[in-house]
Amino acid sequence: MTQTPLVIRGAQVLLPSGEIEPKEVVVADGKIIAVGTDLEVPDQAKAIDGTGLTLLPGVIDPQVHFRDPGLEHKEDLHTASRACARGGVTSFLEMPNTLPLTTTQPVLTDKLAIAASKSLVNYGFFIGATAENLDDLRTANPTCGIKIFMGSAHGPLSVDTAETIEPIFAVGDRLIAVHAENQARIMARREQFAGETDPAAHTKVQDNETALLATKMALSFSKKYQRRLHILHMSTGEEAELLRKDKPSWVTAEVTPQHLLLDISAYEKLGTLAQMNPPLKYERDRELLWQALLDGVIDFIATDHAPHTLEEKGKGYPNAPSGMPGVETSLPLMLTQAQASRCTVAQVANWMSTAVAKAYQIPDKGLIEPGYDADLVLVDLSTYRPVLREELQTKCGWSPFEGWNLTGWPVVTIVVGQIVYDHGQIDTTVRGQALSFGQ
Ligand code: DOR
Repeated sequence: MTQTPLVIRGAQVLLPSGEIEPKEVVVADGKIIAVGTDLEVPDQAKAIDGTGLTLLPGVIDPQVHFRDPGLEHKEDLHTASRACARGGVTSFLEMPNTLPLTTTQPVLTDKLAIAASKSLVNYGFFIGATAENLDDLRTANPTCGIKIFMGSAHGPLSVDTAETIEPIFAVGDRLIAVHAENQARIMARREQFAGETDPAAHTKVQDNETALLATKMALSFSKKYQRRLHILHMSTGEEAELLRKDKPSWVTAEVTPQHLLLDISAYEKLGTLAQMNPPLKYERDRELLWQALLDGVIDFIATDHAPHTLEEKGKGYPNAPSGMPGVETSLPLMLTQAQASRCTVAQVANWMSTAVAKAYQIPDKGLIEPGYDADLVLVDLSTYRPVLREELQTKCGWSPFEGWNLTGWPVVTIVVGQIVYDHGQIDTTVRGQALSFGQ
């Protein structure tokens, strides 16, 4: 790959030590080649002025639903990756509930080809578990891991009984990521709350116990087989407390910005736009999730970007689909929390990049250090600007955070040495690369 080298000058740079210091960063052929002061810069290098800005490793979002192929009326890999570029997300790990379902090698291979042709940022894909594809789960490549929908899914991706879940843990050794909600409890409680049209009922149907039961089951199988387990989008204080007491070294967990920042009070203003799986919970849960994140019980952050059209959301509860977009607001949301002293900028970068690269064993990502890939984002931590619907790049065209006044908006986003977003302009000719996982 021959690229114009880059030199980023004047920025405050987050170093691997967690210190933020004024440094220059030089990039050539997609790699960071030097971090320091008074550096030798290659001829022809393009200078990027980072004055007043902070340079962070690009966000790796480890749970998104980008709808391509099969559901492109909601989103596709082009629009989704535009949203990533604007949000400082330089890599994503995408879920298998596209159509056809990503449950076999040929479908995974097709999805990689679609991403190679359309995605402005780097990409990796999960292979979805069914009750019948144990061989594919073991052999499909490249994949970041196996996704099991223990609850909240329809059709073959719903793998919701101990009898069907256990064999997946028993065979093979690659990472298993679980959507932990207990489907039997969901079905029973749907009956109990039948006829409810207030979206707030969603949190009662898929309640805290629904999540806790499934997380306990996944944890017990993970322990039985010493199998690498990742708990996706944890939503309850009970799960956080469970992991605080009992978290084997091979288990990781994530939380979404919306489970940290929104709770059942959001239904009043947002209606079904606040409806997602697992549902938003209570203020107490938000507090316990924050504490678990700060204490390292929860390892990192994902958005679960799950776009649906406003028309689909307009069907009302319980007919509206669950899910909300997130990739272009996640970094500013979390950096705004850092600026409000809830956490530090270095913690945000760890939760949204470094720790994700480590957990999924993505080589050369997640740090600003010579030899690492030049996936970078320059953010502005001094200006506050609201989330505006008209600026959104996601095809669904809405955000649950519209009107929130945020800081830390990306100013420049760089994907393997290519400038994909620059002061509001997106370069749609840039293409990301397929991620690799493990040794
Ligand atoms: O709310 C959700 N929507 N949660 C999921 O896990 C799936 C997602 C979707 O694909 O719409």
